[in-house]
Amino acid sequence: MQKRKLVRVLEGESVFPPPVWLMRQAGRYLPEYRATREKAGGFLDLCYNPDLATEVTLQPIRRFGFDAAILFSDILVIPDALDRGLHFVQGEGPKLTPIRPDEIAHLDPSRGETHLSPVIATVGRLRQELPDETTLIGFCGAPWTVATYMIAGHGTPDQAPARLFAYRNPAEMETLLYLLAEMSADYLIRQLQAGADCVQIFDSWAGVLDEASFEAYAVRPVARIVEKVRAAVPGAKIIGFAKGAGTLLNTYREKTGVDAVGLDWSVPVSQAKELQKAGAIQGNLDPLRLIAGGKALEDGVDRILDNLGDGPLIFNLGHGITPEAPITHVEALLDRIRTAKP
Ligand code: CP3
Repeated sequence: MQKRKLVRVLEGESVFPPPVWLMRQAGRYLPEYRATREKAGGFLDLCYNPDLATEVTLQPIRRFGFDAAILFSDILVIPDALDRGLHFVQGEGPKLTPIRPDEIAHLDPSRGETHLSPVIATVGRLRQELPDETTLIGFCGAPWTVATYMIAGHGTPDQAPARLFAYRNPAEMETLLYLLAEMSADYLIRQLQAGADCVQIFDSWAGVLDEASFEAYAVRPVARIVEKVRAAVPGAKIIGFAKGAGTLLNTYREKTGVDAVGLDWSVPVSQAKELQKAGAIQGNLDPLRLIAGGKALEDGVDRILDNLGDGPLIFNLGHGITPEAPITHVEALLDRIRTAKP
């Protein structure tokens, strides 16, 4: 069989039309997702149920035929394995027990292996059930983004609690990030060994860090994950999504060793072209253009394809699809990409 399209792009090949998938493509904008989630009970029950997690991962593939499926799980299963009191309150997002500096030395990463086994079982099932041509993407959260939730205990607009925690307790912050890096690397290694073609590291909160903190908390722990994963799985393909990193993205790929950089919608075409000279890029349509549809959607898609379509590109949104996105607009997006002329 020929190599899967998205993997070829990760190796640096230019493919047109580009492979396309959407962050959060399995989710609440799909009625079939809402029905399965209902059946599972809670959101975490869905993440740890291999039958139902496989089902919701496949739903957007069956409906739209995306080039890649992303494992259905959540970045917060790692703090859940650390017994941090994770629960999801409907309409409010995740809640955890805020971690104190003195608790960090007592975290026990050894629970990760058993706790995460159902997710690894889902990966194996997915590889058997997906169409042969569909790439399977595994993932984890970047240590910084996962730590922001562990420290605040919930989502915040600017992650002030985690930033302050880091300035006040730099040694404990380093200990926490490297513990998360080791656990995340082990988790990604298992996903790759179970059949994932590549993995993505989500650093959704990289953009709140100043330059020195970006280097210490976003770059170095991710570089450690990349190094550990490649030592166990030589040539492992890795996408790094450091949302909001701006001009700091220019050295992010080089310093972390990721194969592709994910771009949020604020990254201009000029910078994206520069980044593309060194390898694959992924992104970066504003998710709100998908909600608006019509000309806003068409112009957004065309601008990406016209400017970046001749290099190694994975088409995606600049962040996750939202529950408000109409299904007909997702269809229009795919049609626009797949009928485009180089
Ligand atoms: O992309 C996919 O389809 C795969 C599954 C996936 C989910 N979360 C499912 C999910 C992935 C890759 C994630 C990543 C994730 N989770 C991130 C990084 C990416 C990003 O969006 O910034 C973060 C920060 C989280 C933590 C998290 N999980 C939050 C803040 C929330 C609440 C926000 C919301 O949309 O409700 C979740 C819940 C969550 N994770 C849902 C889904 C489908 C919604 C839960 C539901 O069904 O009600």
